[in-house]
Amino acid sequence: MVERPLEAPLKKGLGLTSTDQPVPLHLIDVPSDLDESRTSVGIGEMDRVLGGGLVPGALVLLSGEPGIGKSTLLLQLLSSLAHTSKSVLYISGEESLAQIKMRSERLGKTSRGLWLVCESDLDRILDIVREHAPSVLAIDSIQTMFCRDISSAPGSIAQVREATARVMQVAKTRGIATILVGHVTKEGSIAGPKVLEHLVDTVLYFEGDRSHTFRLLRTIKNRYGPTYEIGVFEMTDRGLREVPNPSEVFLSQRPGPVPGSVIVPCMEGTRPILVEIQALVSPSHLTMPRRTSTGIDSNRLALLIAVAERHLGLALYDRDIFINVVGGLKVSEPASELGVILAIVSSLREVPLDLDTAVFGEVGLTGEVRAVERAGLRLKEATRLGLKRCIIPWPGSDRLKVPDGLEPFPVKRINEAVALISGAQ
Ligand SMILES: Nc1ncnc2c1ncn2[C@@H]1O[C@H](COP(=O)(O)OP(=O)(O)OP(=O)(O)O)[C@@H](O)[C@H]1O
Ligand SMILES: [Mg+2]
Repeated sequence: MVERPLEAPLKKGLGLTSTDQPVPLHLIDVPSDLDESRTSVGIGEMDRVLGGGLVPGALVLLSGEPGIGKSTLLLQLLSSLAHTSKSVLYISGEESLAQIKMRSERLGKTSRGLWLVCESDLDRILDIVREHAPSVLAIDSIQTMFCRDISSAPGSIAQVREATARVMQVAKTRGIATILVGHVTKEGSIAGPKVLEHLVDTVLYFEGDRSHTFRLLRTIKNRYGPTYEIGVFEMTDRGLREVPNPSEVFLSQRPGPVPGSVIVPCMEGTRPILVEIQALVSPSHLTMPRRTSTGIDSNRLALLIAVAERHLGLALYDRDIFINVVGGLKVSEPASELGVILAIVSSLREVPLDLDTAVFGEVGLTGEVRAVERAGLRLKEATRLGLKRCIIPWPGSDRLKVPDGLEPFPVKRINEAVALISGAQ
């Protein structure tokens, strides 16, 4: 008898190629057919955030707060893909078949070609995927999946990381486009380790204000396209409806000319969207007056209030100031700053801006109005929605192509802009 120790099994990496021996390739010899194999998902707003469509083998993480509509969006997306004769496999670890059926009936989407499995054991799921060989796979949600050989509970860091890595291995080697639904924690970050975001190719974030029906789909990371695009949807009882003209919708409920309301053309990705910024300035009975903002960063608001006090000579120390961006939108662009200041002044002095006036410009600490990018596109959008005037930054305004029917008012400093709204109009 000869003693032979057992060979320890080789620890394998992710193994993203099907061959065991990787062969170096010249970069120029690598086939470049990714863009051609991109398929439209049949939902324009979704295609936009994906960078033109779904790429085979891509791993997409769709994340969002509970109840925001992730499963609804996923079902609409999968039904639409199944409609274009793709074979689609939908794995749900959260809902029963009957629940999904009920939702699909409510949405009016019952496509053939959409296969459902309710399962949370990942090894069983991967067996089904290998056998079924779908072209699109969706898992709702990655936090409910568990790998039998890992002892921690589903949703724990080890489980989520391992489950994603295993799904990725199968998806990449077989060219299956995969959509994972991910929960977010209370703080708003994607539950599970940050590594989840590193592993996948695309991270989409579905957000919206619970009290509004609008939902925004943002790209946080995309290996196959730009990350600045957003998709706009509206939640209805028949599911999510695309909003191809967000400006019209956001402005549709504008009251008449009232103090404190300003229209700002903001850029969201390559698309300009007109948003309404509202301010309410009222006498404060507190030693520390309230400064509350929804949709605008509160630090930025504090800074703009300081600039307005210093350079416009406003007494705001005994005023409560509330700022709101209508429709539950979040505006992070510096181009909105002049709009915020004018909204505050308009509310404080009770002078409304004309309904057909838009405003944009970045405000510096010394009270100057600075140029912003893509001013031409902003003006175009304002004209498209019937606005007639626009207060714009003076720097660069001489080179600007102003659309017909729109009168620009270039300003160098914030006090010039204030003089325009309280004097001439
Ligand atoms: N009958 C209905 N009419 C209108 N809206 C509905 C109806 N049923 C559900 N909704 C909307 O769909 C939302 C739930 O959608 P969905 O189940 O897709 O969310 P989710 O993000 O997948 O949630 P979870 O994180 O719990 O899985 C609800 O918050 C509600 O706004
Ligand atoms: Mg869900």
